[in-house]
Amino acid sequence: MMNNIKLAEGVYYVGAVDWNLRDFHGFTTPRGVTYNAYLVVDEKICLIDNVKAPFAEEMIERISQIIDPAKIDYVITNHVEPDHSGSLPKLMERAPHAKVVLTESGRVETLKHYQQEYDFQVVKEGDVISLGRNKLHFVPFPMLHWPDSMATYLDGEQILFSNDAFGQHICTAKRFDFENDLNEIMYEASKYYANILMPFGKLVDKALSKAAQLPIKMIAPSHGVIWQKHIADIIAQYDKWGKGYTADKVVIIYESLWGGTEQMARRILDGVAAGGVDVKLMRLSACTLSGVMQEVLEARGILFGSPTQNNGMMATMGALMTYFKGLRPTNKIAASFGTFGWGGGAQQAFEEQMKGARLTIEPGLTLKWLPDQVERDKCFTFGLEFAKKVLAAK
Ligand code: FEO
Repeated sequence: MMNNIKLAEGVYYVGAVDWNLRDFHGFTTPRGVTYNAYLVVDEKICLIDNVKAPFAEEMIERISQIIDPAKIDYVITNHVEPDHSGSLPKLMERAPHAKVVLTESGRVETLKHYQQEYDFQVVKEGDVISLGRNKLHFVPFPMLHWPDSMATYLDGEQILFSNDAFGQHICTAKRFDFENDLNEIMYEASKYYANILMPFGKLVDKALSKAAQLPIKMIAPSHGVIWQKHIADIIAQYDKWGKGYTADKVVIIYESLWGGTEQMARRILDGVAAGGVDVKLMRLSACTLSGVMQEVLEARGILFGSPTQNNGMMATMGALMTYFKGLRPTNKIAASFGTFGWGGGAQQAFEEQMKGARLTIEPGLTLKWLPDQVERDKCFTFGLEFAKKVLAAK
């Protein structure tokens, strides 16, 4: 027997928990990843999302313990990314009469991914499918996380199946928020938001307005735990993040070759802290890109540090800047710092990247070789002045 969790009358968790995955397309996942799929057994039977391909048999076994998969009438594909649709080919062999329900963009993407003409039923905002006691309502959530994304709302049980939105990458044997440590879940929810949804803050705002019109007893995302006790908390967090909320906080992200930029970073940190602003020091080689972006999410000030290497910034910092720019954080002020030996170049490279990321750029600080006492004091003052700007930008 398998431990199929019942969410509500006729609603079951039939997904998979990938305890050992440590890299989800570049997102470092120290706590693993879940692919949540849900089975609704009413007069009609429907499966909401499925799981990554290697877990297809496990999901089918879970379904089979509840009903014969051949009886499935609808397979809802809220989002085609393969973590939620990868088992579709195997599933459809076992559920040959099922309609595949998705948005028009989902239909196009499914065809391209699986080259298979399933019995598609394209839905749009406001469309309804009756299952009997419950009806399914479809709520497009475009770009949360791909153009095809939508949420499905089960009206009888008042469950919003939100797909990627409200997700977290965390594995646990306990499927509900209240059974787990709320701080851990919220930390992972913020890391997930920063690395997956941050570029789409305005669309998050729109999605929240749609969700606000629905009575919701549970939010069942496709990753992580189901929100039941803390729905208001996670919605409040999304509201903040979607609006680009920032705190009095600075993140210093840097790399160092022979210790000069490291010394600068530590003195700058002292200055920022003396200015009354919370500050985190992150040497990139000791962190992950996804961990850095989690800290960046609510920070108002960002300081980038690198010595000059080959007339530019260190390559790892270049990778960070590319990732940072792509996630489009808003409402941030930034500056750069670092040492150089002869020609310099890292600071100009930072300027270009910060402009590209549409940050409000403050003057940086560059020093030759290792900082002496006067220069170390300069670093402190640089941090102190930056803290004042962060407070003023509130
Ligand atoms: Fe969880 Fe965009 O897939």
